[in-house]
Amino acid sequence: MRLLALEVRNFRNIETADLLPAERATVVVGPNGQGKTNLLEALYLLATLRPLRAARYAELVRFGERRGRVRGRFALGGAEREISVEVHTGGREAFVDGKPAKSLTDYFGGVSVVAFTPDDLSVAKGGPEGRRRLLDRAVFNRFPGHLEACRDYQRALKQRNRLLKERAAPALFEAFDEALARAGARVVARRLALVAEMGPRAEGSFEAIAVGDGGLQTRYAPSGVGPEALGGEPQIAGELLAALRRRAPRDQERGFTSVGPHADDLELLLGGRPARSFASQGQQRAVVLALKIAEIENLRASLGRPPLLLLDDVSSELDPARNAHLMEYLRASNLQVFLTTTDERLVRQAAGEDARLLGVERGVFGPLPG
Ligand SMILES: Nc1ncnc2c1ncn2[C@@H]1O[C@H](COP(=O)(O)OP(=O)(O)OP(=O)(O)O)[C@@H](O)[C@H]1O
Ligand SMILES: [Mg+2]
Repeated sequence: MRLLALEVRNFRNIETADLLPAERATVVVGPNGQGKTNLLEALYLLATLRPLRAARYAELVRFGERRGRVRGRFALGGAEREISVEVHTGGREAFVDGKPAKSLTDYFGGVSVVAFTPDDLSVAKGGPEGRRRLLDRAVFNRFPGHLEACRDYQRALKQRNRLLKERAAPALFEAFDEALARAGARVVARRLALVAEMGPRAEGSFEAIAVGDGGLQTRYAPSGVGPEALGGEPQIAGELLAALRRRAPRDQERGFTSVGPHADDLELLLGGRPARSFASQGQQRAVVLALKIAEIENLRASLGRPPLLLLDDVSSELDPARNAHLMEYLRASNLQVFLTTTDERLVRQAAGEDARLLGVERGVFGPLPG
């Protein structure tokens, strides 16, 4: 997969951008607040139909405009395809070759992207929500059906929570539990499959990054059921249902559902101890770096093609040795990558001879001066 051309209109502070990305590294250099992350956000939306950091699609539309658009032309398996996404106050619309996309599968058609931002670097020490998001993003790439499974689950969860809050009769919300457990099991099963694939890669990758820091272990930690409950999908659904029933009285008291994939965690252990509580900041960042590299290599191996990689100013957040490791990985891995930075020297090693360097000022991209 390769992005051949990118067109951005009225997206964040970018009025117009028409870019021809390099085959390997495209480096966007500019001072703070000029539009570097905005460009990556446009790319991320194009490739996933989900926002990278915005809470609502409307935030993505350039101030004073009604619609924003991102269009990309990809080379994929010997053919070319053009996909585009428009954002407006009502949400987003997806197009394939200029016509409304028939389905998500039709839209994605093999396009995948991995983003790595400074926010990711803190997930090892933060709450479970950040780790679930990181995990789910990896699962969406690997199993596109995960997006719909998550939506179904969220819908069912909202319904149950509403009934709990309204103090509905147990018989009423119990009727929803079975559907909720089934939808939850689909989410958990895909997450488990991904952790099983990616975990060993992350562990290997961490060993190469952080020599002598003790081994990394990744483990899916379900809420409200024991790890022995994590078998196949029907088994997970059964255990979830039992846990929902068991906790119903307490859930009703508190007004929300306390068990299920929305409360699960991805446990990261360093030398057998939770990285969240015991690892240094540098070690925590190395763990995330290992997870990201593992995700990329896992996609390359399982889908037969590497994803597009977006690196948002990560180099300034890593210590020199870890940044050097990342840059060397990028140089050797032959990925198509977009890197943003305020300091071009930090990424020079990855960029190589054939990199395209772009400057950005107030949302306008052009050749780097000097
Ligand atoms: N919807 C929008 N319309 C117009 N401008 C916007 C919109 N949303 C954000 N901006 C502007 O985009 C700019 C920030 O862009 P961005 O986050 O890409 O900066 P950056 O180059 O990544 O900076 P940093 O180096 O600090 O991360 C801000 O000036 C902000 O006001
Ligand atoms: Mg930024």
